[in-house]
Amino acid sequence: MTEQSTLLSLAQRHLYPNYQQSPFILCRGQGSQIWDMDGKRYLDLCAGIAVNTLGHAHPRLVSAICEQAGQLMHVSNYFYNEPNVKLAIRLCELSGYSRAFFCNSGTEAVEMSLKLARRHFTSKKDSARFRIIAFENSFHGRTLGALAATGQAKYRDGFGPLLGVTHVPYGDAQAVRSNMAPDVAAILVEPIQGEGGIIAAPEGFLQELRRIADEHGALLIADEVQTGIGRTGLFLACGHSNVEPDIVALAKGLGGGFPIGAVLCNESLSADLPPGSHGTTFGGNALASRAALTVLDVLVEDDLIAAARVKGERLGRLLAELNLKFPKQIVASRGRGLLWAVELDPSVDVSKVLEHCKNAGLLLTRAGSHALRFSPSLTVSQSELEEGVQLLAEVLKAEALCVIC
Ligand SMILES: Cc1ncc(COP(=O)(O)O)c(C=O)c1O
Repeated sequence: MTEQSTLLSLAQRHLYPNYQQSPFILCRGQGSQIWDMDGKRYLDLCAGIAVNTLGHAHPRLVSAICEQAGQLMHVSNYFYNEPNVKLAIRLCELSGYSRAFFCNSGTEAVEMSLKLARRHFTSKKDSARFRIIAFENSFHGRTLGALAATGQAKYRDGFGPLLGVTHVPYGDAQAVRSNMAPDVAAILVEPIQGEGGIIAAPEGFLQELRRIADEHGALLIADEVQTGIGRTGLFLACGHSNVEPDIVALAKGLGGGFPIGAVLCNESLSADLPPGSHGTTFGGNALASRAALTVLDVLVEDDLIAAARVKGERLGRLLAELNLKFPKQIVASRGRGLLWAVELDPSVDVSKVLEHCKNAGLLLTRAGSHALRFSPSLTVSQSELEEGVQLLAEVLKAEALCVIC
């Protein structure tokens, strides 16, 4: 028994079994490479599901976290802390919003966004506005509010009743219009559906949602938990459509691996959640804020957002070539910046492909029901992207292994 296999059997005995975890234990990372306890190396092109913006063990992030831990970690939100104020300033500069609220995860950022929208109307004595319009195939998180907004049965089943949200087909502005009524507080949308399979909003759709929300006096909320922090080649993916939502939910890449989420809005919403109406013990603590501040500093200083555009175009070309090479196994590839999906043919077993990728030393994740997701760190190199696509090609060559019998 190796140390890894001993720990694996203990993991299976003691961890709550709500995840389907791979049979190895990761213990060390560097950039886009990661090693398990047996010393096997993997090329990490999932980056903790679009989280490790600077890759693993980035020296700036490591030293900032260590320094901050030795200085001040947590004081509660009864008090200001220095990194948190600086982070709010930085986030507002980068996004163009004027207010930032901090929490600990994507689901909490969505939850806060929904509460802010409802509370905006009740504070205007318009308590009839509570309903949210959201989209089929969306993912917004797993707390009961965020789950109610999530438009996929596989996440919702068994947790009902989940109330207050109307789901309409993604991309169908007419369906949104016909579901608008005086009780709608907000439209909630992902500019690119991430968990749903890296499905981009059709051309003009986000602009149309902005118009519909304005015409009906409702708010527009963008869930940029997966797409934000430069991943798609702009700080916010809504920027590709020149749309400014009223509220933006962020998390994942913000802390580069340190848990932190944020909600951005402007002055018009800043009085709607007064002291006592919403909060969280850990949100925006000094350590998490210092980590996020460092991620944003490096993002700017190393021009990583522009780099995500360039590397993303290269990755897109590599995946298009892969598609040509494997027309039977791959239906299409799609994406923007460093968020891409390879849609596999229904005859291909996605779980098996992912398993063979892991055996070959490549970490990817699934998005949607039948796609492989590439969401590497923004510091990934061109040669690492090439190596990843080459490893996937080798796995697909062994097609017989992956076809559903
Ligand atoms: C668009 C979107 N919203 C919300 C969430 C939930 O974030 P978290 O898992 O940090 O709670 C996710 C997570 O995948 C997401 O992709």
